[in-house]
Amino acid sequence: MSKNFDVVVIGGGPGGYIAAIRAAQLGFNTACIDEWKNEKGGPAPGGTCTNVGCIPSKALLQSSEHYEHASHGFAEHGIEVKGLGLNLEKMLGRKNTVVKQNNDGILYLFKKNKVAFFHGRGSFVKGDANGYEIKVAGAAEETITAKHVIVATGSNARALPGAEFDEKLILSNTGALSITEVPKKLGVIGAGVIGLEMGSVWRRLGAEVTVLEALPTFLGAVDEQIAKEAQKLLTKQGLAVNLGVKIGTIKTGKNSVSVEYTDAKGEAHTGEFDKLIISIGRTPNTIGLNAEGVGLKLDERGFIAVDGDCKTNLPNVWAVGDVVRGPMLAHKAEEEGVAVAERIAGQHGHVNFNTIPWVIYTSPEIAWVGKTEQQLKAEGVQYKAGTFPFLANGRARALGDTSGMVKFLADAKTDEILGVHIVGPMASELISEAVVAMEFRASSEDIARICHAHPSLSEATKEAALAVDKRALNF
Ligand code: FAD
Ligand code: NAI
Repeated sequence: MSKNFDVVVIGGGPGGYIAAIRAAQLGFNTACIDEWKNEKGGPAPGGTCTNVGCIPSKALLQSSEHYEHASHGFAEHGIEVKGLGLNLEKMLGRKNTVVKQNNDGILYLFKKNKVAFFHGRGSFVKGDANGYEIKVAGAAEETITAKHVIVATGSNARALPGAEFDEKLILSNTGALSITEVPKKLGVIGAGVIGLEMGSVWRRLGAEVTVLEALPTFLGAVDEQIAKEAQKLLTKQGLAVNLGVKIGTIKTGKNSVSVEYTDAKGEAHTGEFDKLIISIGRTPNTIGLNAEGVGLKLDERGFIAVDGDCKTNLPNVWAVGDVVRGPMLAHKAEEEGVAVAERIAGQHGHVNFNTIPWVIYTSPEIAWVGKTEQQLKAEGVQYKAGTFPFLANGRARALGDTSGMVKFLADAKTDEILGVHIVGPMASELISEAVVAMEFRASSEDIARICHAHPSLSEATKEAALAVDKRALNF
């Protein structure tokens, strides 16, 4: 049986499912193929993000933060908790329920938007500018055809040579989100986004966490001042971050993992851990697509090669999200998905890479958009900086979370906002104002002149904007 579509999307993660919905909204007869299975073998669309990424990690970050507050934080509010216990099985069960709600939500959205969903692996059979034949291999085998194909097959965790993931002792993000007993000693290789988020979860639940990072600087891509503050705060919480290490042999025993490494001074160590998370980045996933069979070009790092519009080398074949260049973020994948659907419709979809926000959901959160101070220096841009600490913000004091700051970077001549960097409470929400401001090419004075509700954390944003002109009012 052949089914003919205007647009077929391969991959149902945030890039793919959003592209499919937007294409359907634009009037295209659209299908989405996704192979992710839930524990019963049924469909679980939403990709890495929904199943083993953004959503379950944030569920566990929330639960573990509640636990930490109950064990330490509530006391200063005069709330005494006696007999506090951890039911990890229930915590993991809640996380799984949150994931399932998101899987079901996507299936509902497909129905609502009349997107045909195929559960299985999609691979190219043949095709040209007139259309493509795609085989779906899954519960039911079928071949469908498409005038346009959007590839959104995502990414996989990168393994360290000689230390393959077994998800029992050596864990990728998948295993790190499902540990059934809090490890006494947890090793984490890579102090990137996953290392810090998952390290925080298990530390809060009682693990002694050692993070081993190859680079000599902490969060090298983050504004230096913010990264230093974040390092200080996370270290104070008990996350032991070792920078400049060189990982040697990793051996697994019956119930433990040993990691040989040298520290920044060249001294040799062996770390003994109950579990080891390896979070050293992710690699693009093109397994099973038959890219080579149809001549779909990959770049030297294995990403599908695309131009600025997400066009591949094949006519009417597009690619979005983690499988192409650029930051591996769910919202970047979504924006590309929408833009491609709109381009197929002859519209002018656009993604502004300079205003894609980043958030690391540690406590305090770290969030930024635009250029860092070190980038501006390297580019020779003349800039002004303004910072404001949450310590001087009334709402932060009332919350009992005064750590961190907001930092503005603005052009020295025009005052246009070039970057905003936050480490502090609810930075993930606060950063939106900066994104909007930068999209509208606002000046720091624009933000400084806008009325912000009192008392609110957003007043720290306004004050940092005022500080660019050295006229913060509350500091
Ligand atoms: P994916 O989400 O990887 O989806 C690809 C889908 O395609 C998968 O379902 C896969 O099974 C399917 N697929 C692959 N090949 C085929 C095929 N041949 N046929 C059919 N189906 C196929 N990003 C954020 O922005 N915020 C966060 O808080 C965040 N947290 C994260 C936490 C963790 C632990 C991890 C690992 C990642 C996190 N990310 C976060 C990154 C985010 O998950 C990715 O950037 C995002 O999922 C990329 O979306 P995508 O659609 O490109 O690919
Ligand atoms: P990452 O790129 O954020 O960090 C990897 C870290 O590992 C880097 O600091 C790197 O220097 C280090 N490293 C690399 N090789 C090493 C080695 N051999 N020994 C020791 N350290 C080594 O990658 P991560 O944490 O795996 O996450 C992958 C991606 O997933 C992120 O880059 C991000 O795009 C996405 N993500 C986003 C989240 C968010 O938006 N909140 C949360 C989690 C993941």
